[in-house]
Amino acid sequence: MKIAVFAGDGIGPEVTREAVRVLQALGLPGLELVEGDVGGAAYRKHGHPLPQQTLDIAKASGGILFGAVGDFSLDGLERHLRPEQAILGLRKELGLFANLRPATVFQGLEDLTTLRPEVARDIDLLIVRELNGDVYFGEKGMRQTAEGLREGYDIMSYNEAEVRRIAHVGFRAAQGRSKKLCSVDKANVLETSQLWRDVVIEVAKEYPDVELSHMYVDNAAMQLVKNPGAFDVIVTGNLFGDILSDQASMCVGSIGLLASASLSEGSLGLYEPIHGSAPDIAGKGLANPMATILSAAMLLRHSFGLEAEARRIEHAVAKALADGIKGGDLGGSHGTVAIGDAVLERL
Ligand code: NAD
Ligand code: IPM
Ligand code: MN
Repeated sequence: MKIAVFAGDGIGPEVTREAVRVLQALGLPGLELVEGDVGGAAYRKHGHPLPQQTLDIAKASGGILFGAVGDFSLDGLERHLRPEQAILGLRKELGLFANLRPATVFQGLEDLTTLRPEVARDIDLLIVRELNGDVYFGEKGMRQTAEGLREGYDIMSYNEAEVRRIAHVGFRAAQGRSKKLCSVDKANVLETSQLWRDVVIEVAKEYPDVELSHMYVDNAAMQLVKNPGAFDVIVTGNLFGDILSDQASMCVGSIGLLASASLSEGSLGLYEPIHGSAPDIAGKGLANPMATILSAAMLLRHSFGLEAEARRIEHAVAKALADGIKGGDLGGSHGTVAIGDAVLERL
């Protein structure tokens, strides 16, 4: 049972350490953790944010636990050398096209979100975000206009096969939940989105038991705050999914709580919190490790089929929160290690 551990930058190593402690405490037979360098840390050591040896470790593993990458002091590098290329490269190289980002309000946190408790109480949604296409991976560059003005460009595109495979993930996820799927796009303006909508409607014919709806992304951003409990599964593109999932995290309390799974056609997956390297709190022991701990649970479930162990972790986190164990992100005073300890005690 080989798990690759890529801690990365900023709070990445701090939160990953706690998730690793939790994995080790489960007594999983044959558990082997293999560390690899990613992000700014890898750039400083090897001259590249995603060195070949890291990719090799990823490919030889059954699942990857990822912390976070990002280092503002390296933002001046050419784009292909920036820390973020580590996560983008892993997603692309490993064919991790389906990003699952669940957002559920934990018992005891209804009063801590920035929404009114009666609005937050019913949130239990899943964002299915496409992860290998969109404006993220199209041609991009800087050029000069005829008038000599600097111009940046990023081509947004999806082909029908890319939309079809993520649509299937969305429909299957909806079948396993309350059978409602909301596809979020911007088809009133973007051709990319019109194709998206057309293909999702085609795929829907294979899932007559799922109720499909469509929503423009601007409205979805509004509805997520107005009535988040009305959503169940949302399927959307790479950029919209990125933005809406940060928003969903605040609806349930904090970005420090949201885990994610990035899945391929096979069993290999990458598991990471949705947050970044949080340079503003890095090195201070203040980061909430729960999102990463919950990502480790998703790893056990999706890459190793260990449902019972995944639930043990999720229940321990829920119990810790219900018992008042909260980081600064939730208005509490528990630090990273104290939160890790609290989850371990409740496993
Ligand atoms: P961020 O998610 O790192 O931080 C946003 C805010 O949330 C900050 O105030 C931070 O302190 C807080 N926060 C985030 N995680 C937290 C946690 N676990 N506990 C408590 N507070 C937490 O986003 P940003 O500031 O926009 O980006 C910082 C860097 O991270 C950038 O370089 C960015 O590119 C990178 N990033 C990486 C990933 C990734 O590795 N997958 C994801 C997002 C951003
Ligand atoms: C995320 C991050 C990444 C993204 C960045 C760091 C490339 O924001 O995982 O949500 O935009 O996908
Ligand atoms: Mn993001």
